[in-house]
Amino acid sequence: EKENRAPELIIANKELAFQNEEKEKRATELTIANQEAERRLKHTQALRAIDIAITASTDLQFTLKTALDQAVTELGVDAASVLLLNPSTHTLKYAAGRGFRSNAYRRTQVRLGGGLAGKAALEREIFAYPDFTVNQPNFTIPKLMADESFAAYYAVPLIAKGFVNGVLEIFHRAPLHPDDEWLTFLETIAGQVAIAIDSATMFNDLHRSNIDLMTAYDTTIEGWSHALDLRDKETEGHTQRVTEMTINFARSAGMTEAELVHVRRGALLHDIGKMGVPDHILLKPDKLTDEEWVAMRKHPTFAYELLLPIAYLRPALDIPYCHHEKWDGTGYPRGLKGEQIPLAARLFAIVDVWDALRSDRPYRQGWPNEKAINHIKSLSGTHFDPKAVDLFLNMLVELSKDQAE
Ligand code: C2E
Ligand code: SIN
Ligand code: SIN
Ligand code: FE
Ligand code: FE
Repeated sequence: EKENRAPELIIANKELAFQNEEKEKRATELTIANQEAERRLKHTQALRAIDIAITASTDLQFTLKTALDQAVTELGVDAASVLLLNPSTHTLKYAAGRGFRSNAYRRTQVRLGGGLAGKAALEREIFAYPDFTVNQPNFTIPKLMADESFAAYYAVPLIAKGFVNGVLEIFHRAPLHPDDEWLTFLETIAGQVAIAIDSATMFNDLHRSNIDLMTAYDTTIEGWSHALDLRDKETEGHTQRVTEMTINFARSAGMTEAELVHVRRGALLHDIGKMGVPDHILLKPDKLTDEEWVAMRKHPTFAYELLLPIAYLRPALDIPYCHHEKWDGTGYPRGLKGEQIPLAARLFAIVDVWDALRSDRPYRQGWPNEKAINHIKSLSGTHFDPKAVDLFLNMLVELSKDQAE
């Protein structure tokens, strides 16, 4: 009986062994699949991290650091760097790096077409040296490379929108055995870095043209303001003086630097409305008649009408439009009262009257310091915001101390 059953057992055993083998094989396959999935996920997460760094930051340094961190970790290499192409000097210059032993590498600067990085950029091709024992690259800085004891090197051109904007360099202190996935990931990272450089450069260019535009605006305003001073012959220099004083005053009153941009423009243009006041009134060497006053009192409204359509000057309207309003509501053109009057205009009004009183006018001589100070004090709470007057008088004291020194 036993002997009869032996072959069956043997067959059953073989069957079992075979099933086990199959299971093990499937288990191994699953493990590999899992590992691959995990690696892909990590790579995706790495790319996502770079993406976030690109969108969240206009700071190229930060983005490059993030990208290099991810590159080094995910590619499993010792060091990496980004060289940026300066299109006007045709040189590649170190911008970011990690994993280097010495700081000397930071001074890297290569001509386009010179060095391996320069060749990669010029020829728009990856220069690959996965194993120096097989293929030793001809470095332009051999000593530095030897000191770092690298054994593998890749130079990958960074190309965005068809233009090379830099080179990604990868270094390893042991030979590399890259597979397709590694190479694909290297190229993907390089693509991301190129995009980051491109968008940061675009931002910088935009930022620069914005600054250029702002400078052009301000130069234009200063030109206008000078023209206004010239027309009002006796008050040459008045506008520059009140502008400077108003900015200091507004800063000490707590206005932000962003607000001061508009305060400055408003002060420079405060009497632009006088362009609508005829010469025979503006330059009259005598008191104004009631009729002439009607024309003169229109100058803030003229300013409003003139500046309102100019978008970048709209936030600067407070001073030109409201500098003749009074704290007690008896000012013009709208008879605003107290804090209805914009702060910038409340502050400016004091400075304007102060400087006007101190200056010679066609219709009177300039007043001495004491007389002007007493006059400002006497108008606290009627013409002027009382808190602003206190602050102004303090500022005058500080200024006279500065001048005494
Ligand atoms: P402005 O000469 O620059 O004066 C600005 C403000 O400083 C005046 O606003 C007023 O509040 C004050 N201020 C200037 N000079 C004197 C002064 O001699 N005495 C006193 N108490 N305050 C003075 P306001 O009054 O609304 O005048 C606006 C503008 O009208 C003046 O600018 C000036 O261009 C013109 N203006 C004012 N009074 C006369 C005048 O008697 N003759 C002429 N030709 N123009 C005048
Ligand atoms: C580099 O350019 O950063 C190193 C490679 C070379 O020396 O050509
Ligand atoms: C002026 O300087 O143009 C006129 C004086 C003023 O109203 O402040
Ligand atoms: Fe005015
Ligand atoms: Fe003025």
